[in-house]
This record gives sequence, C-alpha cells and structure tokens, in this order.
Amino acid sequence: MAHPNSLMRAKPVLLSIILSLSVSSAALTTTAPPTTENAGSDPTPAPWPLQFHALLFMNYSGALSLIDLWYDWPGGRNFNIIRDQLDGPPFYDLEWTNGTSFFYTLDSPRSCRSAQLDVGILRPNWLDGATYLGQQTVDGFLCNVWTKVDFIWYYEDVITKRPVQWVFYTGRAAHVMIYEEGAVLEDDKWQAPVYCFQKEEDESPEHQSTISEIMDLKRSSTFLRGI
Ligand SMILES: *[C@@H]1O[C@H](CO)[C@@H](O)[C@H](O)[C@H]1NC(C)=O
Ligand SMILES: *[C@@H]1O[C@H](CO)[C@@H](O)[C@H](O)[C@H]1NC(C)=O
Repeated sequence: MAHPNSLMRAKPVLLSIILSLSVSSAALTTTAPPTTENAGSDPTPAPWPLQFHALLFMNYSGALSLIDLWYDWPGGRNFNIIRDQLDGPPFYDLEWTNGTSFFYTLDSPRSCRSAQLDVGILRPNWLDGATYLGQQTVDGFLCNVWTKVDFIWYYEDVITKRPVQWVFYTGRAAHVMIYEEGAVLEDDKWQAPVYCFQKEEDESPEHQSTISEIMDLKRSSTFLRGI
C-alpha cells in the first residue's frame, strides 16, 4: 500500500474520497495527513470464535426470553434454543449453512417447519467493516460500540473483547449472560426430529409469529452473511 504522504501529494482527490469513505471521524477532522497510527485508530470488533456457546437474555419491547446460542462455523451450523418467559418447553431454531432452517418443538404438541434462505450462517468476520460509534457503558460494562448498516448495534467489552449486548433495528436486544469460547454442542443434539422430514409439515400456530419474526431478521440479515 502507498504511504499516505505520497498518496496525498500524487492524488489529493483520491485521498479526500478515501477519507470521506473512512469511518474514522478523527481522520476527517485532522488537518495533517493521517499517519499509519491514527488512520487505524478506530477499534475493530473481535471476530467471533469459530465455535462458542452464549446464553442470551432477550428483551423485545418487554417480552423476555432466554436463548442458548450455539455457533459452529466449522460444522456449518447455528442453533438458537429459545425459551419464552414462563412459557413451557423450548422452541428450536436450527440453521444450516446451506440456507435451511428448521423450526421445531420436541415436546407435545410437536411441530416442525423448515424455511430456506439463499445464504448460509453468519461468518466469524461478519462484523468486518462495521462503523465505530465510540464507547458506552451497557449492563455495567464499558463497551466499544459499532453498527453495521443500521441493522445491528454491537457492544463489546473494552477490556475482555467479549460481546456484552447487541440490538437489532427492530429493538430486539440480546444481553450476553454467559459466553463460552470453543464450546461445542454434542452432534446428536443437532439432529432435527424425524417429523421435520415428513410430508405434511405442521404449522404450529402458537409459534407462527416467532417464526415470522426470526425469518424476517434472517432475510434482512442476508447482506451480513455473504461477505
Ligand atoms: C425491556 O425493555 C424495555 C424497553 O423496550 C424496558 O422498558 C424494560 O425495562 C426492559 N426489561 C428488562 C427486564 O430489562
Ligand atoms: C441442508 O443441510 C441439512 C443438514 O445436513 C439437511 O437436513 C437439509 O436437508 C439440507 N438442505 C438442503 C436444501 O439441501
């Protein structure tokens, strides 16, 4: 890459374009040409570990739930095990990197629905290119904050680099209660039940709105997935 000084002498227009595309407000307000040091001064989010387990406390306009999130990039799979507050057995959202999601219950009344996206699960580097917004204390932790195209706001602990919270544009907030890097769920837990593969798929009405909302989020997040 060209040294910033030679770049500025040779191509002032190009440099101003580069600066205006830059997410660094420091680079925009400084009059001196950026040095390598301050040009890269905005913190960047830690990539997701290739495999992890997180327990998420969710709040969607006051509707509370717990989600066990099992992210497994090498396995090409992602699992959300969702428990709405005081609402019985969990609801499973199992997603494969070929774009197939299975939504099911294992307890009575048993139901399963599948859905198809064009793209697979989030890549570990899906936060690359996020816009840095500065620091904020959330849930009692001092965090660096980024947004990715006004779709998600992501809060990462300044010291430990662990995610503390993320908030979708819908207002759905995830507070990270447990974060276990490298944790992997046993293979047999990833098996969708046999009734997911039978002809008549059960349209469990009580989970219809949850499925619609999750699918809306997945559809509108496809631009985060292909990168
Ligand atoms: C959930 O979020 C709402 C705002 O949407 C807030 O008023 C409420 O206090 C939150 N509840 C909990 C338990 O965090
Ligand atoms: C995607 O992969 C899962 C798990 O192997 C499989 O059950 C599903 O049928 C696949 N979907 C497609 C469209 O091939």
